[in-house]
Amino acid sequence: MEWTATILALLSLASIMLCQASQATNPDLIKSMPGLLKQPSFEMYSGYLDGTGANKLHYWYIQSQHAVTDPLIIWLSSGPGCSALYSGLTSNGPFRVQSDGVHLDNNPSSWNLNANLLYIDAPVGTGFSYSANDLYASNDTAVTEDHYQALLSFFTKYPNSTLNNIYLAGDGYSGVYVPLLLAKLDSVSQKLPLQFGGFAVGNPHTSQVLQDNSLIGFAYHHGIIGEQLWAELNISCCSQGKCNFHNNTNKECVSAVNQTVNDVINIGINPFKVNGDCAGGVPVAAGMMGKNGFYHYAPGVQHIFANNDFAQEQQKSIKGIPSWKLKADLTCVDTTPVTTYLNNALVRSALHIVDQSPKWEVCNATVYQLYTQQYPDMSSVYTDLLNTFKYRLLVYSGDQDATHNFLGNEWFVTGLGRQAEVQWRPWLFKNALGQDQVAGFVKEYDNIAYLSIKNAGFWAPQDQPLATSLLIYNFIYKRPY
Ligand SMILES: *[C@@H]1O[C@H](CO)[C@@H](O)[C@H](O)[C@H]1NC(C)=O
Ligand SMILES: *[C@@H]1O[C@H](CO)[C@@H](O)[C@H](O)[C@H]1NC(C)=O
Ligand SMILES: *[C@@H]1O[C@H](CO)[C@@H](O)[C@H](O)[C@H]1NC(C)=O
Ligand SMILES: *[C@@H]1O[C@H](CO)[C@@H](O)[C@H](O)[C@H]1NC(C)=O
Ligand SMILES: *[C@@H]1O[C@H](CO)[C@@H](O)[C@H](O)[C@H]1NC(C)=O
Ligand SMILES: *[C@@H]1O[C@H](CO)[C@@H](O)[C@H](O)[C@H]1NC(C)=O
Repeated sequence: MEWTATILALLSLASIMLCQASQATNPDLIKSMPGLLKQPSFEMYSGYLDGTGANKLHYWYIQSQHAVTDPLIIWLSSGPGCSALYSGLTSNGPFRVQSDGVHLDNNPSSWNLNANLLYIDAPVGTGFSYSANDLYASNDTAVTEDHYQALLSFFTKYPNSTLNNIYLAGDGYSGVYVPLLLAKLDSVSQKLPLQFGGFAVGNPHTSQVLQDNSLIGFAYHHGIIGEQLWAELNISCCSQGKCNFHNNTNKECVSAVNQTVNDVINIGINPFKVNGDCAGGVPVAAGMMGKNGFYHYAPGVQHIFANNDFAQEQQKSIKGIPSWKLKADLTCVDTTPVTTYLNNALVRSALHIVDQSPKWEVCNATVYQLYTQQYPDMSSVYTDLLNTFKYRLLVYSGDQDATHNFLGNEWFVTGLGRQAEVQWRPWLFKNALGQDQVAGFVKEYDNIAYLSIKNAGFWAPQDQPLATSLLIYNFIYKRPY
């Protein structure tokens, strides 16, 4: 492979290049980030990486505040179709967009305190990523290949980065992208001697069956459904202490499950953080109600009981709607400030966004509509990676998120059947007062850990910045949790 040869050549050159100052000429360097009172002391780059074919994947590379030799964390997108920049600008990146959509505040718990950060948007149509020949249909296999090609493109642009320890990360649908990309990289590891240490995924997509089956108990124990519905679920979906909510054929069960799901995602509970507010108030602007002439659908919750009649009905109606009439909203989340910021002409220009790039949307409904998901369950991919004994894996979960709930993910990690090292214990962090507090709970197995984060939703680094930055620090520096 020609690309691999290039990388190999670059690897051997990397030590020579340590003496050269070439970045000053890199056109992707962000000279000034709009909205900041004071420009940062670390360097940032934004531009495009070459994916497969004519695919141009937008990236935002942020160097460490400490040293560029720190590990590199590669953060992938979610959705499918939701931009990684949303996390970058609200959650784990160095700045947060303020409510005016103009100003940026510094995030004192940014993951780039002790790591280099690279955000990449795929598939094309997501964020600023685009296809130069308008081929937009995609699937998990194609995105993995895109990510892989984009990484080769990145290491060609930034040969020094080949010397870093590298970790993959992401949340939500990254739970599919990230393990598949690591598996791909592992399959070429002989030819590509980079230091991939493993991955960390937050509230990830892991197993549709386990997510469905755990969500019902989650709803009951979070006080969302009452005793009567709970009793109905128990009677119609369970026998001998075992419940099948996922694909039960009993009509009463399907109806009770439908009611439960409706209470979690359609009545004004914020499904991404059930103990938080619903931005904009009740009722939610989701569902197929055609608000403002658009049909709204909510990525991030579409996978919940996706095989059931009530979800299929909605899916079918979505497929039939012309894409220009579809709008993808994150239920109960106000994404206006980030959207305003990224569509500002000054910001686009500072980030070197070309005219072919779409207007930035937090999630692109067309991408979702054209996407084929291939992995309802990720366990075989995890098992294959663990069996190489080369990688450390981390699954963390904010315990207030219903879209990829902590319980289903705990069941998933447990179900991999690895050798247990820590059965269950609290893990601690220091709060703003310097007091030790329980951050959540940890279960550790040989090379894979599950950590919950107390009182955090889907965007755990946004809700619990101190705990989450400690967690990722311990992960990349191989410290105990
Ligand atoms: C590589 O690192 C060296 C020293 O840290 C630096 O001078 C040089 O500009 C870097 N080169 C690139 C391409 O980033
Ligand atoms: C969304 O994705 C489609 C292709 O899937 C693309 O044509 C479009 O430009 C993207 N962005 C917007 C804002 O529609
Ligand atoms: C995935 O997408 C690629 C590129 O569009 C296509 O060639 C391939 O057949 C698709 N595979 C599946 C399983 O859908
Ligand atoms: C569920 O139903 C079983 C069998 O009828 C009963 O023994 C059990 O107490 C019920 N559990 C709950 C939580 O209602
Ligand atoms: C229900 O889901 C389980 C778990 O994936 C599967 O083994 C089973 O075949 C499914 N049953 C039906 C009726 O679809
Ligand atoms: C599911 O619940 C919604 C809202 O209560 C209702 O409109 C719909 O008919 C139900 N669908 C099924 C298949 O039970």
